Amino acid sequence: MTKLKLLFLAGIFFIHGDRHLVCQTTTFENFSFLFMTDIHLEYGKGAIDGFKKAIDTANKLDVDFVLTGGDLVADALEAKHSRADSLFSLYAQTSEAFNMPLYNTVGNHDLYGLYEKSGADSLNPDYNDGMYKRYFGKTYYSFDHKGWHFIVLNSIAKAGNKYKGFIDDVQMRWLAGDLEKLDKSTPVIISTHIPFITTYGQLLNGALSANDEWSVITNSQQILKMLYPYNVKLVLQGHLHIIEYIYLQNKIRFLVGGAVSAHCWKGSNMGMEEGFMKIDIRGEDVSWNYIDFGWEAIE
Ligand SMILES: [Fe+2]
Repeated sequence: MTKLKLLFLAGIFFIHGDRHLVCQTTTFENFSFLFMTDIHLEYGKGAIDGFKKAIDTANKLDVDFVLTGGDLVADALEAKHSRADSLFSLYAQTSEAFNMPLYNTVGNHDLYGLYEKSGADSLNPDYNDGMYKRYFGKTYYSFDHKGWHFIVLNSIAKAGNKYKGFIDDVQMRWLAGDLEKLDKSTPVIISTHIPFITTYGQLLNGALSANDEWSVITNSQQILKMLYPYNVKLVLQGHLHIIEYIYLQNKIRFLVGGAVSAHCWKGSNMGMEEGFMKIDIRGEDVSWNYIDFGWEAIE
């Protein structure tokens, strides 16, 4: 093979003013990060010590950052304002112990006052995602890391006095705009609390069972159509407290990342231990490994 042909195959080349061919290769730096979902931080069940143990384990790993998958606290949905605020403050303070950057995803349990039991006033600025925003900023956003584009979504919508998996029109337009700015070859990773795709309904209730509207993003097909033209490598999902891996159309991987709290700090959940995902990026390849940080339930 000629040297020129090799240069062409290695990347995109262009001609400088001096007419020498220069090769601009697309190389990706290897890195790792953690996906820590469903932390469910609360005052009981040893949850604070459990989360601290997870953080200590994370800090010993060679990773660039931590991405959470939602349900940071348990629970703001039905808590009185002072308790919900206290839980958010607890999470903010406890998570300062991470020795790497932390990116958060919002979960259903992080939405203040949706359940009647909370007694919340819907006009309170903290209502719904207001408290989350006050502590952690936007509920959907994107960032870039070593040539990869990360998109964090808010997958939860208020549905009466409950919630459901849904991406609203405003966020959909933002997502379209965010994707438009990307080169189609840029590798993309998405974080969502409620899954795009899951077999959860079948797993729990049998082969002919459908998912419920709280267990999956009800309009995920619309979003998947937007994503298909792009180089989406991985969709990290939370909410279900299981480990589930779906590789669709030889293209997108959907990974439900277990739960830091397993069965909400009451022990293993359907045989799955308290843990989190270590995601390794090697070139454009993605692999994962579930880290059991050795917590044993105290109740
Ligand atoms: Fe959860």
